[in-house]
Amino acid sequence: MPHYHKLGTIPHKRHTQFRKPDGSLYAEQLFSTEGFSNDYSILYHCHPPTQIIRTDAPVSVQPVIAEEKMLRHRSFEGFRLKPEQDYLQSRKPILVNHDCQVVLAAPGKGAMAYFFKNADADELIFIHEGKGELVTQYGKLPFGYGDYIHIPRGTIYQISFDTPENRLFIVESFSPIRYPKRYLSKYGQLLEHAPFCERDIRTPQDLLTIDEPGDFVIKTKKKGILYGLHYGHHPFDVVGWDGYCYPYILSIHDFEPITGRVHQPPPVHQTFEAANFVVCSFVPRLYDYHPQAIPAPYNHSNIDSDELLYYVDGDFMSRKNVTRGMLTLHPAGIPHGPHPGTVEKSIGKRETGELAVMVDTFHPLQLTTTALELENEGYVMSWAE
Ligand SMILES: [Fe+2]
Repeated sequence: MPHYHKLGTIPHKRHTQFRKPDGSLYAEQLFSTEGFSNDYSILYHCHPPTQIIRTDAPVSVQPVIAEEKMLRHRSFEGFRLKPEQDYLQSRKPILVNHDCQVVLAAPGKGAMAYFFKNADADELIFIHEGKGELVTQYGKLPFGYGDYIHIPRGTIYQISFDTPENRLFIVESFSPIRYPKRYLSKYGQLLEHAPFCERDIRTPQDLLTIDEPGDFVIKTKKKGILYGLHYGHHPFDVVGWDGYCYPYILSIHDFEPITGRVHQPPPVHQTFEAANFVVCSFVPRLYDYHPQAIPAPYNHSNIDSDELLYYVDGDFMSRKNVTRGMLTLHPAGIPHGPHPGTVEKSIGKRETGELAVMVDTFHPLQLTTTALELENEGYVMSWAE
């Protein structure tokens, strides 16, 4: 939930006459992801956003579940996923439940020949490798390595990459993604103890107003089906907007770590939350400074959440044989902890350069067929000495 922002030209009062130079009315649109009971934006279009001129046959993009239930530590090589040129085809769901879908993608190109709208889910796109620009009705958002791009569900977007090789870690959330409530004042300002603040949030800039008739397809995902909806005017025809509901970027490099004399628990790394899952950032930081401190984490029994860790860069002190783009899944129900030898090795270390994204889900994750193709066999036994 970002702060108030506006771009372009808007009328003094909402829901009043706002006319073009030729005297006709601009089309007002209220945009929110939770009816009329939460944050919203108001956009002013050159043409109503309702003018569908034709529709394509629906295409299923439903994840194919390979393992619905399991109780085993798992590990996957994310960078083993083959690149694909098309942005939407490159997106492969790996782990899913009713609250979220974890998707990996290695797109060669962006999506500039069509528009995309995820009507099911907020998207949190973490840029592991690549550089480019997200373009929406709200303006442009240039992005690069380490950016979390949050796109509220229903946002129409195009994405382009300046780089031929791109690696994305995407979380699709069926409920709105927000800053953790405990970071916020009762009026929504990020508090002093939060590991990031409003200055770290990058908002859309350079509003595009393209008043152009034609045939513009918005590929719209709803309940796992992709619908090609063709509109008679360019979707980016907004002259102005304001509000609290819009895409934005927070870089993981702007997340300020919270450290202590002894090991700090995972909630200090929390970055986002949604219904039934949280997202945490593990960033380079100084280790604990109690003279007897053990920097490696203690073993823990996560009986009510699956822990998914996506390794981005740097050395990981608690794990052996970690590669960039690797995922580990430690399911609820069995304890996990540092690999043999890593606890002693961590003692006396001053700092870590590790960079990782963690998704903790409060309901079990199911594995797709793609997850099995990327799996490292034998990980469950990797603690045995
Ligand atoms: Fe853990």
